[in-house]
Amino acid sequence: MSKTYKIGIIKGDGIGPEIIDEAVKVLDAVSVSMGFNLKYDEFLLGGAAIDATGVPLPDETIQGVKKCDSVLFGAIGGPKWDNLERHLRPESGLLALRKSMGTFANLRPATVYDELVNASSLKPSVVAGVDIMVVRELTGGIYFGQPRELLEDRAYNTMIYTREEVERIAKVAFDIAMKRNKRVCSVDKANVLEVSQFWRETVIKVAADYPEVELTHMYVDNAAMQLIRDPKQFDVILTGNIFGDILSDAASMLSGSIGLLPSASTGKGVGLFEPIHGSAPDIAGQGIANPIATISSASMMLRYALGECEAADKIDDAIKKALHEGYRTGDIGDYDAKEIVTCSEMGDIIADYASR
Ligand code: IPM
Ligand code: MN
Repeated sequence: MSKTYKIGIIKGDGIGPEIIDEAVKVLDAVSVSMGFNLKYDEFLLGGAAIDATGVPLPDETIQGVKKCDSVLFGAIGGPKWDNLERHLRPESGLLALRKSMGTFANLRPATVYDELVNASSLKPSVVAGVDIMVVRELTGGIYFGQPRELLEDRAYNTMIYTREEVERIAKVAFDIAMKRNKRVCSVDKANVLEVSQFWRETVIKVAADYPEVELTHMYVDNAAMQLIRDPKQFDVILTGNIFGDILSDAASMLSGSIGLLPSASTGKGVGLFEPIHGSAPDIAGQGIANPIATISSASMMLRYALGECEAADKIDDAIKKALHEGYRTGDIGDYDAKEIVTCSEMGDIIADYASR
């Protein structure tokens, strides 16, 4: 009998529903051709959840995702919900979901498709062949630190990391490096922050268990500069929550568009797979969003959560073929395009190639 996987689907806000529909289209195509079944269960998060239930992360979502084999997520947020109290904002729902799922390790690959070396704002010679894995700590640091408060004349947040939090994310980074080029660059601000000094000391201790991996350290300001100057020097970048948030957006532009890059959030149990971009309310509903980041996240889900590596390869190859054939959504439309396609047409093309 063929296998059946239960996939949680969170469409979210803005372009979330459009891009998720295309990823599901591709997943369906590939599962049919590879002979396994996918059963979907939809959950609410973010603005969509606020509108339907009054809160950004309903209990049904927290409980529901736990019963899935993995979760595919679009994006959340938008101007409609920007003026709500912080704990009621869409972003708070996403952060609370990450925390409740225990997805402390956020893997954000920054790679450059050969077909799109001209799409980056950097020179092709600088970006061609870039292959970086950003390992971002996702459930700690300043995002979650207590105390935090907004007062009349001042406000504060707390950046805090425990030994256990740093050790477990460092192990993830070193394990990944062992399967890649065996180089980890840990990014911090140890020249200024105690929490970063602790981060660095703890990472050095974990490194002792990985003698084959070369560990280097970089201050975050320098890392931001080096990512733009010479991105090929990096293999695995290991960093905390807020630095990883910022550096992964910067790294995404090496590829030419933030609409291309996927991410996997893993940790204790069920994983959460999502594009690194946001809900892009300015282009929502126009059918012009680039679904590749989400389709690529679906591929990561098949590979890392379900172990369906052949199916994941098929999706990755189909994305490359679509780009090679010159199909482009608007965001990358200026670069070696044969035809500008809509979000849904791009999904059709990739689904077709993936099912062959
Ligand atoms: C991301 C996003 C989120 C983050 C926001 C929406 C809370 O920017 O996934 O990178 O900061 O983690
Ligand atoms: Mn971000």
